[in-house]
Amino acid sequence: MHLGHAPAYDIYKTHQHILTHMIIIGGSASTKLAKEIAYELGCDYIKAGTIRFPDGECYTRLDTESLDDDVAIVQNTYPDGNLVELLLIQDVAKRMGAKSITVVIPYFGYARQDRVFKPGEPESAKVMCEIIGLKADRVITVDLHKEDTLGYFKCKTRDVKAAEAIADYFVDKGIDIVMSPDIGAAGRAKDVGTRMGVSYDHLNKTRISGTEVQIKPASSDCNGKDILIVDDMISTGGTIIAATEQLKAAGAKSVVVACTHGVFINNALQRLKESALDCVYCCDTLESEASTISVSKIVANALRE
Ligand code: R5P
Repeated sequence: MHLGHAPAYDIYKTHQHILTHMIIIGGSASTKLAKEIAYELGCDYIKAGTIRFPDGECYTRLDTESLDDDVAIVQNTYPDGNLVELLLIQDVAKRMGAKSITVVIPYFGYARQDRVFKPGEPESAKVMCEIIGLKADRVITVDLHKEDTLGYFKCKTRDVKAAEAIADYFVDKGIDIVMSPDIGAAGRAKDVGTRMGVSYDHLNKTRISGTEVQIKPASSDCNGKDILIVDDMISTGGTIIAATEQLKAAGAKSVVVACTHGVFINNALQRLKESALDCVYCCDTLESEASTISVSKIVANALRE
């Protein structure tokens, strides 16, 4: 298996830039994406000067005199330390006179703990929304696990769909079928497949444990087909490995995956490389060697609105 290659950064220089009056601030978890969003918008970019004190606590500083403009802060809230950094940058932006604060959260930590599953548990996703929402006029997320979570914010919100960026990346790459690993992601396969003009389908997944899943065969004929699996995230990689095995057993010629968020816990990327999967691609909401599909353009479009 090999990794997909990112388009050269210079490609964006061919775009028609619409200058947007906004300042983009990149937190340390999302620096590259923030810079690309600023480039798309043709607006100013400031990198938060974030370091950790010897005891691990976060220190951040914006090297500017004032922020007398609309501001967008781009920062993941995963792992936990990045959430603290975001809260500190929001405070600086507010005190330095930002006219409005948009928080762009490419990967929203705790989104999967969106309800109380057992008595005695917190509503983790709601807690995160409540604290981030204290100093935000607008929040933009990318393929949030459940869009309903945005209802916990009191400000304006928007969840940007990566399907467009994924479909545009694969449109000329000879894919026959776009497949989701479960019915929950069937809408994503439909969105990507429709935009690419190819057929789409879904597999049926049963989760046995946190690391183990069972996948039933697809109803589509996969024999000799080049298949693109799409999913919102890869965590342990168990879902994608099981789906690939099922598709290869059904005669698929090649199987590649494109997920929005490559979380890749417990050496998942290495496990995927060693599996029957032909190639792994993910979006740049989380940076890794596999994050070759940029969401900068679709986030920039959402910021323009
Ligand atoms: C499930 O709802 C998600 O869409 C992903 O399929 C899941 O989180 C992937 O997890 P893993 O990589 O651990 O199988």
